[in-house]
Amino acid sequence: MSAPAMWTHRHLLGIEGLSRQDVALLLDSATATLARMRQPEGAKSTALRGKTIINLFFESSTRTRTSFELAGKRLGADVVNVSPSQSSVTKGETLLDTIKNIEAMHADAIVIRHAASGAPHFVADRTNASIVNAGDGAHEHPTQALLDVLTMRAHGKTMEGLEVAIVGDILHSRVARSNALLLGMLGARVRLCAPKTMTPPLPETLGPTVRFTPRIDDAVEGADVVMMLRIQNERLAGNPILATTREYSRTFGLNARVLARAKADAIVMHPGPINRGVELDPALADGPRSVILEQVEAGVAVRMAVLEAVIQRARS
Ligand code: CP
Repeated sequence: MSAPAMWTHRHLLGIEGLSRQDVALLLDSATATLARMRQPEGAKSTALRGKTIINLFFESSTRTRTSFELAGKRLGADVVNVSPSQSSVTKGETLLDTIKNIEAMHADAIVIRHAASGAPHFVADRTNASIVNAGDGAHEHPTQALLDVLTMRAHGKTMEGLEVAIVGDILHSRVARSNALLLGMLGARVRLCAPKTMTPPLPETLGPTVRFTPRIDDAVEGADVVMMLRIQNERLAGNPILATTREYSRTFGLNARVLARAKADAIVMHPGPINRGVELDPALADGPRSVILEQVEAGVAVRMAVLEAVIQRARS
C-alpha cells in the first residue's frame, strides 16, 4: 500500500480546504483498504513502521478513537492514547503546551478531538506534527463525512444527484457540517431537517446544495439516504432545547411510517452513538436497511487512508 500520490496536505483539519482530487485520493485508498479488510488476510501493512501517532481526545469517543488506534496499528505505527482526564491538563497545562510536549517526544501525527471549534487549526499552526481533526466542537468531523460517503458508495450509491436527508440536532452537529460540505462537493443534494431550537441561522449556507425543511416527512420524501443525528445534550449547558423526548421522537424521530416515504432502496445511517427510541426506532437501527455498523467498519479504512496520507506527506 502506498500513500495517495498527489496528496499535498500536512494536516487534515476539515472538509473545508480539501479539493475534489484530495477527496478522491482518500476515498480510493480507503475503498481498496476496505476490500482488503474484508478478506481473511486483512489489511495490515508496514507503511508507517517507525512512526508515532498520539490520540489526544478531550471529549469522549468510542468509534473515532478506537478506529484511529486500529488504523495506526494496522499501518505498523506506534499508537499512544493520551487521556486528558489523567494528564497534566488537569493541573492547568494549556492545550498548546500539551501539544508541544507531545511533539518533543517525536510524534509524527496527533489526532485531536476537542470541544472548542478551531482547536485543531490553532495547534496545527504551531507544531511540526501532522494534526488530524477527530471532531472540533460543532465545527467539523472530516473523517466521519469521508466514512459516510465511503459507506454510501459501498452500497452502490452514486454521489451525483443523490438525495441525502440529515435529520436532528443540526445546530450542534459537526457531522452535519462536514457532510453538507463533502456531499455538496461531490454533487449530492442535502436536505437538512431540525426543530427550530436545533436549527442554525441560515442553514442553507452550510453547504453548496443544502435545502432546509422543518418537517421530517418532507426531508425523507424520495431520499436515497436518511442520516439521523442525536441531540447533543453535552453542548446545551443546562438549557433544554426540546419540550419532551417523547414529543421529539414523535415529531423528528425516524420510524417505519416516515421511512416508507424514502426510496425503496434507501439506506439508514447514524454516526453514533444512537439514542435508541429518541431519534431512531430500534427496529430500524437493527433492521436490514441500517448500515450503521458498516459506517463503523468504513471508519477504520478511512482513518488508515488519512494517517498514511498526512504522515507520508509530512515525510516527503
Ligand atoms: N461518530 C463518532 O464520532 O462517534 P464517537 O463519538 O464514538 O467517536
